[in-house]
Amino acid sequence: MKKGIYITTPLYYVNADPHIGHAYTQVAADVLARYYRSCQKEVFFLTGTDEYGQKVQDAAAKKGMSPKEHIDGMVGKFKDLWVKLNISNDGFIRTTDKDHKERVQNILRTLYKKGDIQKRSYSGWYCVSDERFWKEKDLKDGCCPDCGRDVQKIEEDNYFFLMSKYQDELIKYIEQTPGYIMPEIRRNEVLGFLNNNKLDDLCISRPKSRLSWGISLPFDDGYVTYVWFDALINYYSATGYIAPQEIKWWPANFHLIGKDILTTHSVYWSTMLMALELPLPKTIFAHGWWTITGEKMSKSFGNVVNPLELIEKWNVDSFRYFLLRQVTFGLDGNFSEEQFKSRYDSDLANELGNLLKRVLSMINKYSPEYLTKEPDGFDRKINKLYGELDGLYGELKFNIILQKIWDIVKAANIYIEQQKPWELNKNGEEKRLAEVLTNLFEVLRNISQMLEPFMPETCKKIKKQLGVIRAPKDINFKWSPTDNFKNIRDGLPLFPKQ
Ligand code: MSP
Repeated sequence: MKKGIYITTPLYYVNADPHIGHAYTQVAADVLARYYRSCQKEVFFLTGTDEYGQKVQDAAAKKGMSPKEHIDGMVGKFKDLWVKLNISNDGFIRTTDKDHKERVQNILRTLYKKGDIQKRSYSGWYCVSDERFWKEKDLKDGCCPDCGRDVQKIEEDNYFFLMSKYQDELIKYIEQTPGYIMPEIRRNEVLGFLNNNKLDDLCISRPKSRLSWGISLPFDDGYVTYVWFDALINYYSATGYIAPQEIKWWPANFHLIGKDILTTHSVYWSTMLMALELPLPKTIFAHGWWTITGEKMSKSFGNVVNPLELIEKWNVDSFRYFLLRQVTFGLDGNFSEEQFKSRYDSDLANELGNLLKRVLSMINKYSPEYLTKEPDGFDRKINKLYGELDGLYGELKFNIILQKIWDIVKAANIYIEQQKPWELNKNGEEKRLAEVLTNLFEVLRNISQMLEPFMPETCKKIKKQLGVIRAPKDINFKWSPTDNFKNIRDGLPLFPKQ
């Protein structure tokens, strides 16, 4: 069976409104998916929502609603934002899906039969916000070492996944599989942790007396499974009922996550797959965090950046561009609207927007013929970049890709200043004028192809104004000019002054 490219995002908790952090992973995954589709690859891009657990149960109780009623309202907010952000996900999984639940229960049964799940008594400190247990020694000033919130002392019998059994196998796997955990700094972090600490077994149940909002353990109805255990399984379960069945999707090619959930993915999920004797995903990529003037974004600080407001004020593509151009994917970044404005004015309005406007107005004014004799080096520049794209996307180097596209945009603007088409026109150098304007037209067409995964609406507008008649797939990722100027149309500026 043919193997497709399978890309996932985390499943978002539905207890708060989506913000820029969630939008970040979505946009990155969307750009990857669009790129691979443009290479004529079969792509399955999955996102969704994480709907069980204590937090949801508590939030619903506060509103006097059932968990399901509470969640249904929230899920819509995520879905609406993804539409506004032009996210082209092929599937949306909800952990409350009946099919997901059945698959989780099958997996629990398999691991229980295998002896990899055992019942033990347990005492620990529980952080509701992070949905995880800590040991006394891990606490910081009596609070959760991760989020600083209060923790509750809990003593109870629970079921454990024997994660520690797989520690050596996991270390070996990570050491021998470059690219499994990316970027390198995160891989080293996980290896450092595994090499210096003995892994505990993972508590994967909660008694229903304390938490009823979850998936029941198939071998003990008094318990539900731990929210992370069921949520991680989504990546695999979706391939059984949401993804098209005629293509093989597992193992996933890219799990995109934030750095805060690296342990759950690189340790919990990897060992769960090892226990199930399933192949591990090709890459788990942990991106950094957006902060606001250096501060963590949080409701209580009142500094949460709402993507909807930014999209409405600027436009969706400039938001997508900013997220992936401003910061190296993998590192933390600081969000400020001044920086956003500066990227908008310089890169988008001045460099790209003006290039299109100038080229179209010169073609309209001078009516040159379409002449492709002398590409003046643009053919080499563009073919070189097409050749590099696969490698750069494979390493999720989004800002480098954009930088390289902009090198060509800048080179085209300089070319206009050097060639001075207005003088060629004045001096009656018609052939040269035709060559120069054809080159600029072809540069813009290729840019609209390369930039499409990042800025789909803008590229559609560029193509429409250029009157490009060939479908993008015909371009076949190389400089191959065979168009004409007949379909050129006037259009509104791509990035109007704000
Ligand atoms: N439900 C779990 C994931 C389960 S995956 C099987 C979860 N959900 S979350 O809603 O809290 O976070 C989802 C993602 O948003 C995480 O990857 C997290 O890193 C990301 N972000 C949340 N705030 C962020 C920023 N301020 N900046 C960048 N990304 C951040 O964890």
